[in-house]
Amino acid sequence: MSDTIEAFPAWPMPRSCPYSPPDAYRALRDQPPLKVRIRDGEAWLVTRHDQVRQVLTDPRFSADDQQPGFPIRIQLPPEPGVMSFNRMDDPEHGRLRRMAMTEFTARRTRAMRPDVEQLVDRLLDELEAGPRPVDLVDNFAVRLPSLVIARMLGVPEEDEHDFTEQSRTILSQEASGEEIYAAFVEMSQYLDRLTAQKEREPQDDLLSRLVERYVATGELTHQELVAMGRFFLVAGHETTAHQISLSVLSLLRDPAQLAELRQDPELFKPAVDELLRYWSISQDNQVRAAIEDVELGGALIAKGEGVIVAIPGANHDESVFPDAHRLDIHRDARAHIAFGYGPHLCPGAPLAKMELEVCLRALFTRFPTLRLAVDEPKVDFRENTIVYGLNQLPVTW
Ligand code: HEM
Repeated sequence: MSDTIEAFPAWPMPRSCPYSPPDAYRALRDQPPLKVRIRDGEAWLVTRHDQVRQVLTDPRFSADDQQPGFPIRIQLPPEPGVMSFNRMDDPEHGRLRRMAMTEFTARRTRAMRPDVEQLVDRLLDELEAGPRPVDLVDNFAVRLPSLVIARMLGVPEEDEHDFTEQSRTILSQEASGEEIYAAFVEMSQYLDRLTAQKEREPQDDLLSRLVERYVATGELTHQELVAMGRFFLVAGHETTAHQISLSVLSLLRDPAQLAELRQDPELFKPAVDELLRYWSISQDNQVRAAIEDVELGGALIAKGEGVIVAIPGANHDESVFPDAHRLDIHRDARAHIAFGYGPHLCPGAPLAKMELEVCLRALFTRFPTLRLAVDEPKVDFRENTIVYGLNQLPVTW
């Protein structure tokens, strides 16, 4: 570790406005990558759109968190014994990812849409029948993605309530560390039992199909499939939930663009890409380690050094997205990298986009007078978390 580490700027960097990435990223994009001080050492910070894509596609940057210099290691309780493939490199990463991808095709996503519409309607019925104001984070945004994943995995209806309550506890701001840990252990044990059940009696769901295609042929072990199922829940739940609540907030504070969307609901689809770009919720934990010396934009990143790629920095790069600080539903935002880029590009992206489109459309159609139930400055943002988001979003109608 360098002895000048104290001189490096600290990271994560503060946001002066909750609606924009850290101010410092703007100036940093005009300079070579720089070293920053992180909680357990130092790493390079990359903020430009082109350089972030370069890091994410160059095999000299490893996603394996056991590599020397890997900047931030997140320990998910309990230790699974089997790693999830996002922290692996090819060929092992590719082997597991290819199996998973068979469940995230455009065709599968289209087939899921009626289920998602039905689940959204069910949650909106509950909202309509319940008290107001209501916290939309806890009562809608956090609940939808876990219900969707439960459907995908083939969680039987009688277990759905317990499954979604456990995942709600895992994401809860109020639960204690012990409660979260206990819910995580229970969830793992449940997925273990569920996978074993699908091995005995396969049905028409993700776990069963992967059992028949890969566990039966010996290409995938039972434990690897359990880890995969759990990883889908972890990767797809918190992200989608916070993207839903932030997207609702954006539209509530922009009545003109919301009116356009209501007028022409076909616009919800492109608007979702712009909302993903604008918020870039994966603000932390997009990291790699150099396994060879690499020259990047004027900096020499040495073998064994860590790199943080700032997705919010890249998605607000003015050279790619002029007026990047403005949410503009008419912008062509498809070059955004809110779902990453390269070999680890999020497989859940089509599903997440469909969930967002369905739920924004249904929510704003069902509640034409939906509005914030607190003054806007009181909206409670989550600071210093891996996924940016809201603690609460009190609304009424
Ligand atoms: C708005 C919602 C979402 C966002 C913003 C998001 C973001 C991301 C990002 C940035 C990565 C790349 C990580 C890296 O390069 O290190 C990623 C990977 C991944 N995501 Fe998502 N994600 C979302 C929803 C989902 C959903 C719904 C699922 C599945 C149900 C999912 C499953 C995964 C998996 C399995 C990976 C690892 C891919 C690999 O390493 O090959 N995500 N996600």
